[in-house]
Amino acid sequence: MKRIGVLTSGGDAPGMNACLRALVLTAQANKLEVFGFQHGFNGVIELQYQTLLPYHVAGLIQNGGTVLKSARCAAMHTEAGVKQAAANLHELKLDALVVIGGDGSFRGTVELAKFYQGQLIGIPGTIDNDVDGSDFTIGFATALDTALDAIDKIRDTADAFERIFLVEVMGRHTGYLAVSAGIAAGAEQIICPELASELDLDKIAQHVEQARKHRGNCSYIIVIAETMYPGGAMALAADLEQRGIECRASILGHIQRGGRPVGADRILGTKLGAYAVEQLLQGAHLVMAGEINGQAGLYPLALTGDKKKQVDRYLLRWQQQVAQY
Ligand code: F6P
Repeated sequence: MKRIGVLTSGGDAPGMNACLRALVLTAQANKLEVFGFQHGFNGVIELQYQTLLPYHVAGLIQNGGTVLKSARCAAMHTEAGVKQAAANLHELKLDALVVIGGDGSFRGTVELAKFYQGQLIGIPGTIDNDVDGSDFTIGFATALDTALDAIDKIRDTADAFERIFLVEVMGRHTGYLAVSAGIAAGAEQIICPELASELDLDKIAQHVEQARKHRGNCSYIIVIAETMYPGGAMALAADLEQRGIECRASILGHIQRGGRPVGADRILGTKLGAYAVEQLLQGAHLVMAGEINGQAGLYPLALTGDKKKQVDRYLLRWQQQVAQY
């Protein structure tokens, strides 16, 4: 193997640059040439790429975002687009492609294998932490800290006014960010997809009332995962007001995707970037380089989107039982 490609795809995540740096350094140490594609798979289809050398990734480890740029790629949902991507990879004589992204990007990568003869490997990078085969995804730890920083600030003003707040966090269809941020922020309620069957406006209102009975007037924070309520946190705040619960809504949004990666994301990115290259040299194909129980390991790419990974149910139940006291 002499030449590998790399791209970042889907929602960018802090630590992707650290991962890219480790990949380029490991490739250099093994005398491999690296082509970095821009804007995710669009760069493969439109032939936007550049050779990456160690000096291109120097000083990148502490930067959020992704220097390769990221994007979602509509063409990869069509057979013509996938065939074009494969043809371009063959044309460029790439022996392997590394895809840093989430399970959606990995689905495209699995499709690509039908037409591309080289090796394909994924590295989990998304703030959502919803990829099977890795305890954590690159970017999750930073997004959690960013959400906590915001919620802690909201707590200050909520305390001062003894107010109720709804804080909406990202996470697409899973509640890792919502549950983790809710637990770590000491939120009084967590509304997340894992408890979707229990979503009930009257119950939400009753819980607030119970908390106030136990504690008197107090701040009260509800962390809600995006997609949990039609119209989001603003609509839920309006509907709660109809039930006599006055609350303010705050949507954290894309700030959760940015910022300097925390140490855990730099370390995870570095480990998986290095490991992916080493595993490619060993012949790895159609697998994801992830980390389970602190150990780097490979996992079938086709199974990364099976949604088997669970949020911490123990903590979630505990939170539900005690949060009104
Ligand atoms: O997958 C990462 C993520 O930030 C999700 O949490 C969120 O639902 C989505 O991407 C937002 O996507 P976009 O930036 O395209 O609006």
